[in-house]
This record gives sequence, C-alpha cells and structure tokens, in this order.
Amino acid sequence: MLYSKKVMEHFRNPRNVGEMPDADGIGEVGNAKCGDIMRMYIKVKDGIITDVKFMTFGCGSAIATSSMATELIKGKKIEDALEISNKAVVEALDGLPAYKLHCSVLAEEAVRAAIVDYYEKNNIAYDKAKYAPHAEN
Ligand code: FES
Repeated sequence: MLYSKKVMEHFRNPRNVGEMPDADGIGEVGNAKCGDIMRMYIKVKDGIITDVKFMTFGCGSAIATSSMATELIKGKKIEDALEISNKAVVEALDGLPAYKLHCSVLAEEAVRAAIVDYYEKNNIAYDKAKYAPHAEN
C-alpha cells in the first residue's frame, strides 16, 4: 500500500475543513510545480491558537497533511506551532512516499504564513528571514 492508513483516513475525513470569516491570520501558499493551493486560517487568543480551519485545492497528500497540521497546531502556543515541521506532520501520518513530501512542505508553509499574517496584522515584531518560504520543493 502506497499510503498509510492515517493518510487515507485524513484524506477521506479531513479535520477542520472550511473558511473562517473572523480569522486572526490567513496564510495562502501554493506549489508552482503542481499548482496546488492551501489556505490556512487561525484564531489566536493570548498567544494560543484556539481554532484552525483550512481549504486545500490539491492532491490527497496535501489534504491529509493540511488536516494533520491543523490537528497538531490547534490549542498550541504560537511558538510551539512554529516548531512543527513538515517532518513532524509526515511522522504523525505514519509517512508519505518520498515524491509526495513536497505536499507536507506546503502544510508547514501554510501554518507559517497564517502566523506571519497574524503577526503583521497585530504589529508584532518577528524575524522575517526565518519565515521566508522554502526556495523550491
Ligand atoms: Fe501538489 Fe501534492 S501534488 S501538493
């Protein structure tokens, strides 16, 4: 089987799908090669990500990784959410085929983009260089 049970389960039954009209931060990222797009919404209270939603127009792995990423960051402090790498998302899904790893990078970038948007909207200083998107996936 190419995909783990968890990947298939999150693909068929993704968590936290939808829009969030009153989001505190919105991140939208895309992969130029495959054309897939991921949008992540976060709600923040006292430095904690209290709610997350996502919309992904993309492959099954992109949907599964966005779903898992929302589960991993929900209820976490912003700083802790920023530590969640695409590797952690892949591990939580019991792996992805190598040629699908770029889909998980998209999930990590969407989380970061939403947090950066939150920082910018609230005039919170952050290290811009640290949040530059990955050059090529
Ligand atoms: Fe584009 Fe998966 S093939 S994100």
